[in-house]
Amino acid sequence: MRVVVAGATGLIGSRTVARIRDHGVEAVPVSRAAGVDVNTGQGLDQALRAAEVVVDVTDAPSRRQEASTAFFTTATGNLLKAAAAAGVEHYVALSVVGADRVGSGYFRAKAAQEDLVRHTTVPYSVVRATPFYESVVAAVTAGARPDGVHVPPLLLRPVSTDDVATAVAHVAVDLPRFGVLEVAGPEELRFEDVTAELLTSRGRPGPVIADAQSPFFGAVLQERALLPGPDAHVGHQTFAQWLKNR
Ligand SMILES: NC(=O)c1ccc[n+]([C@@H]2O[C@H](COP(=O)([O-])OP(=O)(O)OC[C@H]3O[C@@H](n4cnc5c(N)ncnc54)[C@H](OP(=O)(O)O)[C@@H]3O)[C@@H](O)[C@H]2O)c1
Repeated sequence: MRVVVAGATGLIGSRTVARIRDHGVEAVPVSRAAGVDVNTGQGLDQALRAAEVVVDVTDAPSRRQEASTAFFTTATGNLLKAAAAAGVEHYVALSVVGADRVGSGYFRAKAAQEDLVRHTTVPYSVVRATPFYESVVAAVTAGARPDGVHVPPLLLRPVSTDDVATAVAHVAVDLPRFGVLEVAGPEELRFEDVTAELLTSRGRPGPVIADAQSPFFGAVLQERALLPGPDAHVGHQTFAQWLKNR
C-alpha cells in the first residue's frame, strides 16, 4: 500500500508519516518543502502517481474565515482532482470537531473542505479532532492582556498530536468510512483551568479572565461547541503528561 501524506512536514503530518510506517506501509511525504504545492497544483500529479491512499493534513496559513476557506477550497479541490485522476481508493481528511455546527471563522472553512470531500467520487474518511494542546497554548499566549489572560469560557477535550496522528494513520490503512470519526483527549477541562495550569507550569501564575467574546479559531463559541459526541475515539495523553514531555 502506498499512502501519500499531504502536509507531511506539519505537526500532524510528520507524526502521521511515522505512524503509517509503523503499520509496515509505504508513506510518501508531500509538502512545499518536498516540491509539491497543493495550492498551485505544482508537482501534485507526479506525487500521487500509484497512490492508493491520500491523507490530507495540510493547514491554512490563517485562522480567518475568508483566507482559510480560500486555502482549503483550493488545496483540497486540487488534491481531490489529482486523487480521482490517479485512481486513489481512499481519501482521508483531518477536520475539527465543531465544523458541522459552528458556522463561522476557521470552522466554516473546515466545513467547506468536508463538503468537497463528501461530494467527491473518491471513497473517503473524515477524522475530526478536538483542539490540539499546542493550539490551546497558542490561544493562551494570544490572550495575554495587562489585566491577565483572556480566554473564552469553553469546555474542552484537548488532545495530543501524537494521539491524533495515531488515529489518522489507523484510519488511512483501514477501509474508507464514508463518514466521520471524532478524536478527542482523555479529559474534559475548562479553558480557564487549563490556562491556570499552564501559567503555573511556567512559574507565572496570574489572573485568568473568562471572556465570552474572546475568539478561538477565529470564532466566538458557545460553551459546549467543541465537545465531541459519545462515540469519539479517546486518546491517552493528558495535558499534564503532555506539558511534562514537551
Ligand atoms: N490545530 C488544531 O488544534 C487542530 C484541531 C483539529 C484539527 N486540526 C487540523 O489538523 C490539520 C493539520 O494541522 P497541523 O497543525 O499539523 O498543521 P501545520 O503544522 O501548520 O502543517 C501544515 C502542513 O501543510 C503544508 N502546507 C501548507 N501549505 C501548503 C501548500 N500550499 N502546498 C503543500 N503543502 C502545504 C505544510 O508544509 P510546507 O509549509 O512545507 O508546504 C505543512 O506540512 C489541519 O487541517 C487542521 O485543520 C487542527
